[in-house]
Amino acid sequence: GLAALALASCSPTPPRYVTPTGAPVREAELARAGTGRVTSVALRAAETQLDLAGTTAETWSFGPVPASTIRMTAGDTLRATVSNDLPADTSVHWHGLALRNDMDGVPGATQAPIGAGETFTYEFVTAQPGTYWFHPHVGPQLDRGLYGALIIEDPNEPLSYDDEWVVILDDWLDGVTATPDEVLEELKGGMGGMMSGGGMGGNMMMGARSDLLGGDAGDVRYPHFLINGRPPTDPETFASAPGRRVRIRLINAGSDTAFRVALGGHRLTVTHSDGYPVNPVDTDAVLIGMGERYDVLVTLGDGAFPLVAMAEGKDDNALAIVRTGSGEAPTAASAVSALTGAILTAGALAASSEVTLSTRAVDRELSATLSGSMMAYDWAINGRRFDAANPMAGALGVSQGERVRLNITNETQMWHPFHLHGHTYQHSGAGPRKDTSIVLPGKSLSVIFDADNPGLWAAHCHNIYHAESGMMTILGYK
Ligand code: C2O
Ligand code: CU
Repeated sequence: GLAALALASCSPTPPRYVTPTGAPVREAELARAGTGRVTSVALRAAETQLDLAGTTAETWSFGPVPASTIRMTAGDTLRATVSNDLPADTSVHWHGLALRNDMDGVPGATQAPIGAGETFTYEFVTAQPGTYWFHPHVGPQLDRGLYGALIIEDPNEPLSYDDEWVVILDDWLDGVTATPDEVLEELKGGMGGMMSGGGMGGNMMMGARSDLLGGDAGDVRYPHFLINGRPPTDPETFASAPGRRVRIRLINAGSDTAFRVALGGHRLTVTHSDGYPVNPVDTDAVLIGMGERYDVLVTLGDGAFPLVAMAEGKDDNALAIVRTGSGEAPTAASAVSALTGAILTAGALAASSEVTLSTRAVDRELSATLSGSMMAYDWAINGRRFDAANPMAGALGVSQGERVRLNITNETQMWHPFHLHGHTYQHSGAGPRKDTSIVLPGKSLSVIFDADNPGLWAAHCHNIYHAESGMMTILGYK
């Protein structure tokens, strides 16, 4: 609250925005009318070591990597006490949730950072069922081990399945080749400097062209790609039985990598995008950008199968094993053939009828034009690089109750996963509900949402290095 009030005095004709602790924020939370049941969890952020099958990575985490899954029933209140035993400020952002604004975990906009040695308690109603996740919103801390799944179960779950697995994808360098902060500093120095100065042991790469994403594959070379914190040489095994129906909740917690995910020998039925139901679509593989989630259903065959996630354009894979019978465990290399079938992207999905936005005229049009280049590393939105010291400069303004169309235009040669906090928009043309969407190079994406959750909401590229070098803005309620 203090930060936001201080900001309001900076600009010459300050638009007056609802503050994170303002009355409309409290009213919106009351309207969520929870069950009153409270689930308490403790999250301790601390330095730790991660064993990557022979390499020991020094990293930061909430206990294991990923953190233990937080499981809620929709309508219940989550009370999460975060203790910061890191040597740095931190916060926790609850990615994808329409929650009360002062619990959104964005220092400089919604709260003061949680200082080293401090604790902060997040408390909010988890109103909407779905697959969500959490991570800090301070610098590139997301690219360490500070992440976990937040699953909000539907008390009236319409799907039936026998097992449910959470599969979290990640690209990993922390404690192996560099820290994310070091990588960010290198990137901000620009590619020119990197080339001449030699850089830090070849972390950077001009990515190979990626046929699906049509642009550079990524800014950073990762030595490892992980599923649930484990490299392909030491994969997690999901044990089950032939004929069982499994719901797999896929979450991409990577910072700079899209993954093409398949389960060898199986078709996947996509049922949810970013937590919201879609009309089910069958596919061989799904493409998942940073911050996105897909839920898929699969009926298991008999044997040992690769659950493989190809790091798009980076020529490397993450792997887990699904075992329902005997047979040699597949390797990452042998699993690649699983990735050659039909690949689903968000454009092929439609929201299911119960979550389709009502027909209604648009009250307000907003634009977010993404610009910048790898060379200069000058990523920006609407021509402005986000400045944490003046976060409301260039903010996108809405009024409560409006139907809003947001046109996201990517003028760069790289793809960007665009994320809006606090709302789950719908892709125009009866597309899926989402909070994070891939916008391809040179393309536009139009999304619609109802401005029904007052506060200050970050909107940014979920390539954490792009966001932290300027591709971020704030959506504010006037
Ligand atoms: Cu998952 Cu603002 O982020
Ligand atoms: Cu980006």
